[in-house]
Amino acid sequence: MKIAMIFTEYKIKDLSLKNRIVMPPMCMYSADRKGIVQPFHLVHYGTRAQGGVGLIIIEATAIEARGRITGNDLGIWNDDQIPGLKSLVDIVHGFGAKIAIQLAHAGRKATVGQCISSWNSQFSDEYPIPIKMDESDIKQVVGVFGEGARRAQQIGFDMVEIHGAHGYLINQFISPLVNLREDSYGCKNGIGAKFLQEIIKSVKNNFKRPIGLRISAEEYSNEGLHPQNFIPLLSEVQQDRSTAVDLINVSSGGVIKKGFPSNVQPGYQIGFANEIKNGTKIPILAGGMLRDSDMIEGILKDKKADLIWLGRELLRNPYWPLKTSEYFKIEKGKPQQYERAEPYFRNS
Ligand SMILES: Cc1cc2nc3c(=O)[nH]c(=O)nc-3n(C[C@H](O)[C@H](O)[C@H](O)COP(=O)(O)O)c2cc1C
Repeated sequence: MKIAMIFTEYKIKDLSLKNRIVMPPMCMYSADRKGIVQPFHLVHYGTRAQGGVGLIIIEATAIEARGRITGNDLGIWNDDQIPGLKSLVDIVHGFGAKIAIQLAHAGRKATVGQCISSWNSQFSDEYPIPIKMDESDIKQVVGVFGEGARRAQQIGFDMVEIHGAHGYLINQFISPLVNLREDSYGCKNGIGAKFLQEIIKSVKNNFKRPIGLRISAEEYSNEGLHPQNFIPLLSEVQQDRSTAVDLINVSSGGVIKKGFPSNVQPGYQIGFANEIKNGTKIPILAGGMLRDSDMIEGILKDKKADLIWLGRELLRNPYWPLKTSEYFKIEKGKPQQYERAEPYFRNS
C-alpha cells in the first residue's frame, strides 16, 4: 500500500485537520450588495467540504465596505453579516472539514467608492487614484481588522488568515514598489513591517485560535521583494508573542500590474515556499497549479511544505480529495450515501 502523506492529520496548535488538503481563498463575487452570504456560498463551500477537503479558507472577506474589490465581495464589517457566515461554518463543520476566513482590505485595488493606500499612486489606469492614508486612517483600519477578527471568533471560524498578498492593502505597505512613505510606516531595510505588525496584534487581541498570514513572496520585479527578503520580516514577527503567526500561506505576484509571469508551471511557487520554510521554521501552506497527486505527495514528503492548496482544481473538481483517497487506497472518509457510485477514480 502506498503511504499517503496527503491524508495524514496535521495540527496547527489545537486545530486538528484530517488531511493536508486546503481550499485556498477564492473570491466568488457572489454576495449581495450588503456583503451577505448567499445560497451559492453554502453550496459552493459545502460541496468542497463534502468532497473531502481538510481546511477551507473562505474567500477574501472585506473588513470595511471601502475595502471591497467589488460590490459583491463578502463582508465581515457589521453584525448583519454574522448569521450568513455562521451558516457557512456550520455546513462545513457538518462534513468534518475545518474553516478559516481570509480577512481582507483591497486598498488601492478597491473599486467601490474612494480607495485608500500607503501611497497615492494608482495600481493601473483602470483603477482610481487612492488617498494616501495618514496616521488616523491607519489606526482606523487596524481597528476594523480587529473588529472583523472579533466577529470571526464569535461566528466560530477555526482560523483567520490575514490577507497580506496579491497587492492588496497590507501588501501595499509591505512592498517597496508601492510604499514610498518616509514616516514610521514606510519601508525600513527595503520592506514595510509596521502596518502588518499592528494588524496582526489587533487580530490576535480579538481572535484566540490559530492565525495565518498570506504573503506574495515573489514580486516578479528586480526592484521588488523576493522570498529571502521576507525571512528577516517574518523572523521579527515571530519573535514577539503579540505578532507571532501559526501558518504562512506562500503565494506570489499581484503587487504591480506586470507582476506575474505568463509561463508558470505546476508547482511554480513551491521553491518560494521552501525557502520561507527553511528560513523561518514557520509551518507553510503552499500551492499553485497543483493537481497531480504524486507531485503533491513528493512536495509533502520532501517537507517543502506542510499543507498544500488546490485552487482552480477544486473549482473544476470538488471531489478531487475523494478521487485521490481512492488512488491511494484509503477507505476512510468516503460519503456513505454515495457508496453505489464508487469507484470515483476512473479514466473514462
Ligand atoms: C477565482 C479566483 C479567485 C481568487 N480569489 C482569491 C482571494 O480571495 N484571496 C486570495 O488570497 N487569493 C485568491 N485567488 C488565488 C488563489 O487562492 C490561488 O492562489 C491561485 O488560484 C493559484 O492556485 P491554483 O493554481 O491552485 O488555482 C483566487 C484565484 C481564483 C482562481
